[in-house]
This record gives sequence, C-alpha cells and structure tokens, in this order.
Amino acid sequence: MPDSNIIKKYNASNIHVPSSMLNWMRSNHAGETGAVWIYMGAKCVFWNKKIQDMSKEHYETENNHLIVMSHILPKNSHSKLLILWRILGFGLGFFSALLGYRFFCVTIQSVETFVEEHYQEQIDFLYKNFTSFELLRVLKKCCDEEVEHQIDAKLQKGNVKNNSFERFWSNLIGSGSSLAVNISKQY
Ligand SMILES: [Fe+2]
Ligand SMILES: [Fe+2]
Repeated sequence: MPDSNIIKKYNASNIHVPSSMLNWMRSNHAGETGAVWIYMGAKCVFWNKKIQDMSKEHYETENNHLIVMSHILPKNSHSKLLILWRILGFGLGFFSALLGYRFFCVTIQSVETFVEEHYQEQIDFLYKNFTSFELLRVLKKCCDEEVEHQIDAKLQKGNVKNNSFERFWSNLIGSGSSLAVNISKQY
C-alpha cells in the first residue's frame, strides 16, 4: 500500500501537532522507529518459523505507525538520536529472538504493555484538555493496534507464568523504555 493510502487509513492527512504535544510526538516517532527495528532484528533469526511469522505481521503494523508519525511530525522535530533508537531496537529484537520463541513473546508483551500506557497517557491528556480530537483519534488507533500485538504475544506465550528471569527482563524493558521516552522527548 502506498504511504498516502496508509496516512488516509489512519485519518492522519491534515494534522497539526499542538505545541503541548510536540515532545510526546517526538517520542512516539522515536518509539515507532525502535519498534520497526525490533522486528527487523527478530526477522534475522530466520530459522525460527514462529518468530518469523509474528515479526512479519507485527512489522507491517509498526511500519504503518512509523509512516503516520513521520507524516504528522515535522522533520525538524524528529529525534536527533534516531540512529541510537534503530540500533537499540534491532539489538533488542535480535537478541530476544535468539533466546527462542517464548522469550521473544515475553519481550514483545513487555514492550507493548509499556507502549499502551505511553499512548494512553497522551490520549487522556488530549481528551481532558480538548486539545486535538484528530490527533487523539490517530493515537487511539495506534494504541489499539499495540494492544493487539500485546495480546497476540501473551496468547502465543501460553499459560505459563513468567519465571524470575523473565520478570526481571520485563521490568528492565519497562524502565529502559521509560528512559528512552524521556530522552527522546528532549533530543
Ligand atoms: Fe507501533
Ligand atoms: Fe507495537
């Protein structure tokens, strides 16, 4: 699908970013960049069919999100550290996929849980301040799709509780993502 159709599909054609949302949007664009590269990294683990299938499917959605964020956010407002977000995303996807399908699912579930909260916070802000209904609608659609990824990873992981290392890893992803958001809001 050409980019213009994706932008239309997300109702993102004519959105002006309010100044109160500029830092948030920079972090969204940086985050979607990282997400695209997580799945590019995971796709390198070509011998694992299940990881391949999930990565191909999720990649497509993340790439749509990135196209939409790139369209909405003026280029001079992009994060100066995009190279870093790409490297970190790729590394996270590749190394968690190397540790197998279950571990990859734990990673994706943790990442998407963080991303859901990240978008929800902005949706709440826009709603309470009557700021931009158009932007709210775009973020809501992205957020819903992140939740789908989260549920997919959770179901695929199966009904086995996380062990202590997986819990540690999930917490690490939560704090690492939060740090990345704070940095990308500024730079
Ligand atoms: Fe996304
Ligand atoms: Fe996602």
